[in-house]
Amino acid sequence: MADLIQQPQLMVGDGWDHYALIDSGDGRKFEQFGPYRFIRPEPQAMWTPQNSAWQADGEFIPGADEDGGGRWHLSDKVPAHGWPSSWRETRFTATCTPFRHLGFFPDMAPVWEWMREQLADKSEAQTLNLFGYTGVGTQALSQCGPVTHVDASKKSVAQARENATLAGMENRAIRWLVDDAAKFAAREVRRENRYDGIILDPPKFGRGPKNETWRIEEGLAPLVRDCRALLDNDSRFLFLTVYAVRMSSLSLAGLFDEVFAGLPGMIEHGDLAVRQQHDGRLLPTAIFARWSNPG
Ligand SMILES: C[S@@+](CC[C@H](N)C(=O)[O-])C[C@H]1O[C@@H](n2cnc3c(N)ncnc32)[C@H](O)[C@@H]1O
Repeated sequence: MADLIQQPQLMVGDGWDHYALIDSGDGRKFEQFGPYRFIRPEPQAMWTPQNSAWQADGEFIPGADEDGGGRWHLSDKVPAHGWPSSWRETRFTATCTPFRHLGFFPDMAPVWEWMREQLADKSEAQTLNLFGYTGVGTQALSQCGPVTHVDASKKSVAQARENATLAGMENRAIRWLVDDAAKFAAREVRRENRYDGIILDPPKFGRGPKNETWRIEEGLAPLVRDCRALLDNDSRFLFLTVYAVRMSSLSLAGLFDEVFAGLPGMIEHGDLAVRQQHDGRLLPTAIFARWSNPG
């Protein structure tokens, strides 16, 4: 019943006072995170940079294998324990992590906005953030109602709680769970629980808290099916992002088309991108599929 929009869509994030994509090219990107500027590897930036003389406070030099290894080369200016950052009313600590990240994913900003728009007419909307990391998305959703935040990393969930306290949201209805996302979703299905909205942003490969193995090629379809079982005619959305894998958003759309056959609404898919500050060039960061139901 859900209508599949075949034409790929673009979800574009512009910078804000705590994040901007300044330039990119030659397999790297140059970004502003609050008061600091960093260079990070970006294989998709195959064009020539606007300006080759990037003055950065730090650079992440990748290791031999594409997915792991590598380390930051930082100037003394960059605080070892991070610095305060924000998006809208959310608050969090930005910091250079061993995995080339900065403690949050700025390209998710248009997704956080879109989810809130889907819930605008609902009060006390129940949402689920699977692979929630440091919880900026959870903070954004908590404005609409209770949120269940699930991540396998004890450290990430602790940081997510700390971030919520920084934002003065420590008393909001947020369940902080250290768990394997696939196991948690399957358990919720058995419990016959339901949600108004679900977001999942899985890595290519990951480990659960009890060493469960997550491989996206194997685990994604069953997980999307379980998430579908947690939604009903009155639910508003399921949002999936996928990155760093050999997959097209069309294949995600094909899966959603089958899985959401029994629900009303719309299925869209496409690219998530960040708009470069000076020339508006779009840097793709992930692919997505989304089901939405205006209710
Ligand atoms: C790309 S990050 C998610 C980013 C998040 N959506 C955000 O916007 O901040 C992927 C997360 O998946 C978590 N993870 C990896 N394997 C997992 C698993 N089996 N179950 C639950 N979380 C897992 C990692 O700890 C990491 O925080």
